[in-house]
Amino acid sequence: MSFRHSRIIGTGSYLPPRAVANDELVRELAARGVETSDQWIVERTGIRQRHLADAGVACSHLATEASRRALEAAGLQATDVDLIIVATSTPDFVFPSTACLVQKALGTPGGAAFDVQAVCSGFTYAIAVADSMIRTGLATRALVIGAEVFSRILDWNDRGTCVLFGDGAGAVVLAGADRPGVLASRLHADGRHESILRTAGNVCGGTVLGHPYLTMDGPAVFKLAVSVLDTVAREVLADAGLGTADVDWFIPHQANLRILQAAARKIGIPIEKVIVTLDRHANTSAASIPLALDVGVRDGRIRPGQNVLMEGVGGGFTWGAVLVTM
Ligand code: ACO
Repeated sequence: MSFRHSRIIGTGSYLPPRAVANDELVRELAARGVETSDQWIVERTGIRQRHLADAGVACSHLATEASRRALEAAGLQATDVDLIIVATSTPDFVFPSTACLVQKALGTPGGAAFDVQAVCSGFTYAIAVADSMIRTGLATRALVIGAEVFSRILDWNDRGTCVLFGDGAGAVVLAGADRPGVLASRLHADGRHESILRTAGNVCGGTVLGHPYLTMDGPAVFKLAVSVLDTVAREVLADAGLGTADVDWFIPHQANLRILQAAARKIGIPIEKVIVTLDRHANTSAASIPLALDVGVRDGRIRPGQNVLMEGVGGGFTWGAVLVTM
């Protein structure tokens, strides 16, 4: 059975309970001899706190909790889903995929399950893949999840990166439908920029070779991010035959408040229409967009029938946009 369209019929999210405010992080870092301040973090990034997973809590645990909430919101059982895609760069294992672990935890064997690795763009990639699979008859209802434990790949001695990220998960149920739904999606990558944001380690002979922590050229990422977020927004709006005035809510990847503001300004979307969770969640990579979507849905800002523009940008370099009617 194939459908002409796919729609988001439920959202959910989950944050590990331990919220670490800037002041607490600043104190913890000072104890290691790493100097930073709440003022620097807030002024340069907009981040005020992040949630960090306790040792032993893995990506699949966060993803499973977020999935349960999305299924509940959709009024479905896990057995109603025949596709699970997890967007993550911090999977539990090299293999099996985190999606297979989520499937096991939900107790719903049989459907397809796999991970998508496109770093902070991962959720837009995963939605585009699930939408295509539903429209070509390979799946009928999908759990599309963004989940990360970025705290595990941070160098806590590098103040330029460790203050920026948090852990969490967001999920949606995407279901086959007669009316749209997903109006348009566009995905891109430019591997020539792979070195500006990377975790360049690999497992060999039972040990990690290379550098196991995230490294970043912040200013280079900033410049590229603002530019590609603008062009890909214009692409999906043109594909759907809509203009910026038709966008009710804009959910860019939550990397840095100044990137969000610059992107919204360039595209021509008023800042009041931007869902911002970065202040509370920090950058949760592939989880940031579905987390923000769920916050917007649950606090009543995002309503049925409204158009939501979601945009991801991250390591690879990758970027993508998905325009949906809720
Ligand atoms: N606390 C205090 N000082 C700091 C900190 C910190 N946590 N981190 C860096 N600094 C210092 C630097 O050492 C430098 O000091 P110096 O001038 O004495 O050498 C100074 O601050 C300026 O450093 P820059 O890196 O030039 O600071 P910038 O204003 O560019 O801000 C930032 C850095 C926030 C990372 C910015 O470049 C940025 O937002 N880039 C986008 C990257 C991003 O958001 N990445 C997230 C992941 S990527 C993604 O999700 C797409």
